[in-house]
Amino acid sequence: MAKKIIAVVGATGAQGGGLVRAILSDKGGPFAARAITRDVNSDKARELARLGAEVVPGDVDDVQSLKKAFTGAYGAYCVTFFWAHLSPERETASARAMAEAAKAAGIQHAIWSTFEDTRKWVPLSDPRMPTLMGSYKVPHFDAKAEADHFFTDLGVPTTFLLTSFYWENLIYFGAGPKRGPDGKLAITLPMGDKKLASIAAEDIGKFAYGIFNKGRELVGKTVGVAGEHLTGAQIAAALTKALGEEVRYNDVSPDVYRSFGFPGADEMGNMFQFKRDFQQLYNGARDVAFSRSLNPSLQTFETWLTKNKERIPLE
Ligand SMILES: NC(=O)c1ccc[n+]([C@@H]2O[C@H](COP(=O)([O-])OP(=O)(O)OC[C@H]3O[C@@H](n4cnc5c(N)ncnc54)[C@H](OP(=O)(O)O)[C@@H]3O)[C@@H](O)[C@H]2O)c1
Repeated sequence: MAKKIIAVVGATGAQGGGLVRAILSDKGGPFAARAITRDVNSDKARELARLGAEVVPGDVDDVQSLKKAFTGAYGAYCVTFFWAHLSPERETASARAMAEAAKAAGIQHAIWSTFEDTRKWVPLSDPRMPTLMGSYKVPHFDAKAEADHFFTDLGVPTTFLLTSFYWENLIYFGAGPKRGPDGKLAITLPMGDKKLASIAAEDIGKFAYGIFNKGRELVGKTVGVAGEHLTGAQIAAALTKALGEEVRYNDVSPDVYRSFGFPGADEMGNMFQFKRDFQQLYNGARDVAFSRSLNPSLQTFETWLTKNKERIPLE
């Protein structure tokens, strides 16, 4: 029987890449992977082709290219790239283009990688955290949530996927341990004693594969994924064990975090504050046992560290 094609946006990146590899590693499975990229000749695109993916061009800012890339597919994985441009409006527009292309191509099951609209719990008038870019509390959350309705309004059969903080941020996003003036390593988070829902990025794609495998059972549903819920102290303790050097937890207030001045510090400060202050809501939507039920190889932080500790840059 012909395999059903899943068209994957962001296939050369973290979430989409995990999904493409999950599809390709299940040789006897029902799906074939179609990897969408802006450059079919890049090393990453060629590597996906070598693994067995169909590689096609597509850009989330170009709805016609998406329509073409989605044509003939059963499923579509839709994700946007906030940190590539830092524009919430552009992110919402990209999501709209994917919803329109999914509708035009008759996609039978889309997964939209979204987040909560934090303004439902912290309205713009709420002084607990600053309003950013005029209309948002956490722009990369709120802009994604704002786009949910494009999928529903157009009647695209969609599963709404709430993702979690990647452990890879310790490697690529400057979130890893830093040495203080005393020479000691510390991770800095404004989370108090609250737990951060977090995950190995590759496991998001594997979980998405689990969603497609469930058939249409999860269409119209919102599902969340996390590898573990960890306090800053637990993250520091796991790092200490893995690195063989003490890593402390530097617990700062969200105001202090926002003042750090790196690009996106205010946004990240608001994001962590939301996760800290709405712990039950946020972590409750990202159940670890449910995540493991759809992805039995879900990694713990300790497992991830065993494989990745050498990649964490230390000064
Ligand atoms: N960092 C975190 O902790 C975290 C956690 C949860 C969710 N997120 C969200 O994850 C999203 C990004 O997903 P990701 O981490 O999987 O991305 P990623 O690893 O940064 O990869 C992005 C890939 O998407 C492609 N891409 C970039 N711009 C594109 C465009 N205009 N059209 C089509 N493809 C484009 C690029 O591929 P080509 O160059 O091959 O086209 C790139 O390889 C963000 O919106 C972020 O908010 C991040």
